[in-house]
Amino acid sequence: MSVVTYEIKDEIGIISVNYPPVNALSVHVRTGIKESIETARTDASRAVLIVCDGRTFIAGADITEFGKPPMSPSLPEVLATIEKSQKPVIAAMHGTALGGGLETALACHYRCALSSAMVGLPEVKLGLLPGGGGTQRVPRLTGVESALNMIISGNPVPAAQALEMGLVDRIFDDNLLQNAMAYAKELVDKNAPLRRVRDITIEPSSIPDGFFENYRTQTTKRYRGLLAPQNIISCVQAAVDLPMDEGLARERELFMELMTSTQSAALRHMFFAERTSAKVNGLPKDTPVKQILSVGIIGGGTMGGGIAMNFANAGIPVCILEVNEEALQRGMDIVAKNYGITVKKGKLSEKAAQSRKALITGTLDYNDLKDKDLIIEAVFENLELKKQIFAKLDSICKKGAILATNTSYQDVNQIAASTKRPEDVIGLHFFSPANVMRLLEVVRADKTSDEVLATAMALAKKIKKVPALSRVCYGFIGNRMLRFYGRESQLCLIEGSTPEQIDNAMQSFGMAMGPCAVGDLAGLDIGYKAREALTDEQKGEPKTYRIADTLVEMGRLGQKTGAGYYTYDPATRQRVSDPKVMEVVEKVAKDLGITRRKIDDQEIVNRLIFALINEGIKILEEGIAQRPSDIDVVYVFGYGFPAYVGGPMHYADTVGLKKVYDTICTFRDQHGEAYWKPAALLEKLARENKTLEQWAAQQA
Ligand code: 3HC
Ligand code: NAI
Repeated sequence: MSVVTYEIKDEIGIISVNYPPVNALSVHVRTGIKESIETARTDASRAVLIVCDGRTFIAGADITEFGKPPMSPSLPEVLATIEKSQKPVIAAMHGTALGGGLETALACHYRCALSSAMVGLPEVKLGLLPGGGGTQRVPRLTGVESALNMIISGNPVPAAQALEMGLVDRIFDDNLLQNAMAYAKELVDKNAPLRRVRDITIEPSSIPDGFFENYRTQTTKRYRGLLAPQNIISCVQAAVDLPMDEGLARERELFMELMTSTQSAALRHMFFAERTSAKVNGLPKDTPVKQILSVGIIGGGTMGGGIAMNFANAGIPVCILEVNEEALQRGMDIVAKNYGITVKKGKLSEKAAQSRKALITGTLDYNDLKDKDLIIEAVFENLELKKQIFAKLDSICKKGAILATNTSYQDVNQIAASTKRPEDVIGLHFFSPANVMRLLEVVRADKTSDEVLATAMALAKKIKKVPALSRVCYGFIGNRMLRFYGRESQLCLIEGSTPEQIDNAMQSFGMAMGPCAVGDLAGLDIGYKAREALTDEQKGEPKTYRIADTLVEMGRLGQKTGAGYYTYDPATRQRVSDPKVMEVVEKVAKDLGITRRKIDDQEIVNRLIFALINEGIKILEEGIAQRPSDIDVVYVFGYGFPAYVGGPMHYADTVGLKKVYDTICTFRDQHGEAYWKPAALLEKLARENKTLEQWAAQQA
């Protein structure tokens, strides 16, 4: 069946797009729309409607075509054909009219929408700008500032707001096709003019002096390191300064510049990575999924409370079990405080916060968990304690309940073995703060059933998390890799760097925070306590942890004690360098016989990031992760890795595996094989001159 059909009904030419799942503007859709408009030029229709079948109006250009040779007709050609039509063309939108979809509507002469529709230009999230005239037409309709806010945030707006902004002319509550046809007839009956957005001019004198400079300064601060917002500002400025056709040409030029950038390639990679990570290789499509209508959480501490909020936010009642009233109250208070902050920020109404809080109850009695569909254990990180709890859950919970652990490191197989139903046991590893971080590492133990796994993946979507599947190993995907990143930051520090240099270098690379600042935020005592449970051999060489231990022993636990790698102003939490830290660093280096040297920023970035990459590739070799892009999902959604770099695996491909391999070999020659043994798969792919993406495609 054709993806675009055209027919005349009651004197209205109706162009219907039917290209599931989201009616993206593939070459077939573009061709179909253009040909239909050309047909309408000479037929008996009096006006033309563009509508879409399925769940949404056109949701944008077809992202799978990006990076490939362009295919005619281009979107600008199609839109020019629509705009030039001598009969009014009306877009009728439902679902999400995004990117090229909204731009198609903006090239029409009139626009109507269902009240439930959302419209937006999310291209910036793909490292792009609207390349179908969006940067020229939106400011002509909404004014420059609203246009900039909409295009640079990339966030869609509801139809009612779009109406107020001037992007939409008419809204209906239901029966889109019928109402849109009536609207089209009304327009032709009253001989409504062919309203072309291009004919509007923006009066330059309406823009305050210095407006664009100020906007650019704010944007540079807010969207650190990103190219697309900068190019968007240039395009919108062109909408003011240049005639339409020159503005469109400028938009095209800056769009193509972004399309060929590594930032956009990375963000497009992340778009598909996020959607692929929920797919489990080999899991039959018809695997049944259990209903999760009630949840129990054991342990209402830092993680338990945050995890509970995710379920309450999705309307699922959740009961937290604690050891005593005091601990329970503490947990409930943290939940209440977190909701309070969200309300204060204006992101949630007081009423909604109250109803969500009402879904979270507390108990000290295991019997209250016996009918729950899912239990998530989030008690202290202690294997014996977790095993005891799972044995107890096994004796109490109803048949078929899913028993999950939020453990960061412990062996989920051993935890499962403490029950008589290991097939129902799984790891659901949330990230802190659990109500904010979008990653959910789903840990598949040896005996976890397909049904439990499929349910966990579906549940992640329901609670708005991005799942990534891991097999069992120490630290799973994320924390296992992070140890090597942490090791290198400690080594750079002791060998010659400072906390400021390391953090600045990593922030310039794009990390949300550098490793020393992250340590201070999380609390340096966490790592200290974890090391206490290890043998000397497990801990590794003192140079990899002695500085951190010394700071903890001095009472410098990080932000919570006002000092760690930095000192913190108690009022503002602003960090300040502290010479005492460098005294510690220099003394520990001297005690351990290390002569400090000058280390440059690039070495810091390479050592920290290549350590992540090497371990990530070992994780792939071992089958712990299903695919490289899942590792990227873990790092972007769980560890603040910059999405515009695309995660460590995509970054490795961008740098080139041969270069990564050669650099790791140089590190091995300098620092020894114990730290820098190149992954065998890295060596193989480097020799074959292949990328991880090519390797993944072969495995699929
Ligand atoms: N091109 C190609 N495939 C797309 C696509 C697009 N624009 N948008 C979504 N898809 C695919 C997804 O990859 C997914 O495929 P899969 O089922 O094989 O994994 C499928 O459609 C369904 O997508 P979601 O799982 O995301 O479905 P949701 O219902 O949750 O969300 C959506 C729907 C809101 C439309 C969301 O998919 C979305 O935000 N899509 C991207 C929209 C976008 O960025 N548009 C701008 C594109 S760039 C552009 O238009 C340039 C122009 O200015 C020139
Ligand atoms: P926490 O110390 O803040 O909270 C643990 C809670 O469990 C406490 O409130 C305690 O009273 C309760 N508890 C202890 N024994 C219990 C029992 N027998 N029955 C019921 N409740 C009990 O710890 P946190 O940080 O919340 O960690 C919990 C788990 O989550 C650990 O396994 C940890 O590794 C994991 N995790 C922690 C992350 C973090 O950043 N804090 C991130 C991801 C996972």
